Amino acid sequence: MGERIISAVEQAGDWELESSLRPISLAEFIGQERVKECMNIFIKAARGRGEALDHVLLYGPPGLGKTTLARIIARELRVNFRITSGPAIERPGDLAAILTGLGEKDVLFIDEIHRLPRSVEEILYPALEDFSLDIILGKGPTARSLRLDLSPFTLIGATTRAGLLTSPLRDRFGVLSHLEFYQQGELEQIVTRAARILNIPIDKEGASEIARRSRGTPRVANRLLKRVRDYAEIRAQGYIDLGVAKAALALLEIDKLGLDRGDRRLLRTIIEKFDGGPVGLDTLAAAVSEETDTIEEVYEPYLLQLGLLQRTPRGRVVTRHGCELLGIEPGGQLSL
Ligand SMILES: Nc1ncnc2c1ncn2[C@@H]1O[C@H](COP(=O)(O)OP(=O)(O)OP(=O)(O)O)[C@@H](O)[C@H]1O
Ligand SMILES: [Mg+2]
Repeated sequence: MGERIISAVEQAGDWELESSLRPISLAEFIGQERVKECMNIFIKAARGRGEALDHVLLYGPPGLGKTTLARIIARELRVNFRITSGPAIERPGDLAAILTGLGEKDVLFIDEIHRLPRSVEEILYPALEDFSLDIILGKGPTARSLRLDLSPFTLIGATTRAGLLTSPLRDRFGVLSHLEFYQQGELEQIVTRAARILNIPIDKEGASEIARRSRGTPRVANRLLKRVRDYAEIRAQGYIDLGVAKAALALLEIDKLGLDRGDRRLLRTIIEKFDGGPVGLDTLAAAVSEETDTIEEVYEPYLLQLGLLQRTPRGRVVTRHGCELLGIEPGGQLSL
């Protein structure tokens, strides 16, 4: 389906935008009130005791601010921030090199932690629990094990799929924080803040319309804002009001709920080819020519949140609400 403008997944070109828009303190971070309040307490308590913060697992759909929050935590702890990702750590030696390079109480951020190789995960356990590293030197009968002490550190793991974490790994996190889709009012603040930073003239209704169609996701809100700005510059003297936002988003084929063609195609396929479901994930993925991971991580969270789709033990089902939205009778054909 190519790159979707409403995809919550990071795309080429997002990086520059994101680094300029990334909030750098908890106070500046909009929304996720409960997570923020807890983190604020844990950070202060750890600092007060002069200890490393307990390990933190951040989970939730893409683009909700996991990386941003991890950076903020390190900054508020006043420690160094080291960033890597599950797939980037291929062998136990790679992780050992990273861990031994950490300073006292530093934060190590492992993005996509569910994709750590098993052999790496195993050496992570004692590192998390006792701040020690068991290294095996050599192979076969002459192999020896060597125990290295590490400085206390904080691991912050991020994942879009907490369910894929093994339980021994999950159990070693002292703080589990679930990030949720943002509320309309929070997204309006995010759009307004981004417009201010990027110098984009916009009124309240324009910001509100972009927020409404951002599928609860700051990354999408920021990206839509940029596209609507392009439209405003060429067609409307650069100013974003309600009419301009609506026209631009209609041109991008993003509907009132923030759904694009890809979402509608997924729902429509389930209804038309599989009688509304249930249909198994693999079968569905083949029918819409998408990876199963993309369906689970990118499409589904928001469709589930809106109550358009349901996951059942027998497969995916489009709800009555989903059928109504598309103007299709449950189990029937397009009535448009
Ligand atoms: N609470 C927030 N307030 C303002 N902007 C935010 C907030 N959360 C995220 N953003 C914006 O959204 C962008 C994406 O956030 P971030 O990269 O932290 O998401 P993520 O959850 O790590 O995504 P992924 O799962 O793809 O790694 C940030 O660069 C920032 O501009
Ligand atoms: Mg991230």
